[in-house]
Amino acid sequence: MADLDKGRAVYLLNRILEAELAGVVRYTHYSLLVFGHNRIPIVSWMREQAAESLTHAQQAGEMITLLGEYPSLTIGPLLDSYQHDVEAMMRESLENEAKALALYRELLRCAEGHSVIIEEYARQMVYAEELHASEVDKMLRKPGKVAAFRPEENLPGNRI
Ligand SMILES: [Fe+2]
Repeated sequence: MADLDKGRAVYLLNRILEAELAGVVRYTHYSLLVFGHNRIPIVSWMREQAAESLTHAQQAGEMITLLGEYPSLTIGPLLDSYQHDVEAMMRESLENEAKALALYRELLRCAEGHSVIIEEYARQMVYAEELHASEVDKMLRKPGKVAAFRPEENLPGNRI
């Protein structure tokens, strides 16, 4: 097995760590701005996503220290769009999740054939993030519509 490009892997892992930490803040922020009769399940779903992002950030950090490197203390970009209806928040979340997913895919390409542990980790995360994106996509569909909200980006297998 050829050597892993550790510098590249750690760079990607740090960007993942930062993106996931931004997700914690973003979902927490969204969860504070949900009003109306569907508030309770949506708030709890958003807080679950915040907790999941924190777990993902911690997993990325553990991979960085596993490689003997230093984890970033920075957090990914956060932009307040001041759009607070649930659909706008979901669309924004899908865009941000797509960026994180792209980083996990890049990490998978970087590790493939070079490091079983990083490859396996990245593959599991691509799976988890794709599943998550598909869930958000389904939430963005109008009741009765089966077609994907963003079919070109969300159909599995056309990005890797
Ligand atoms: Fe994540």
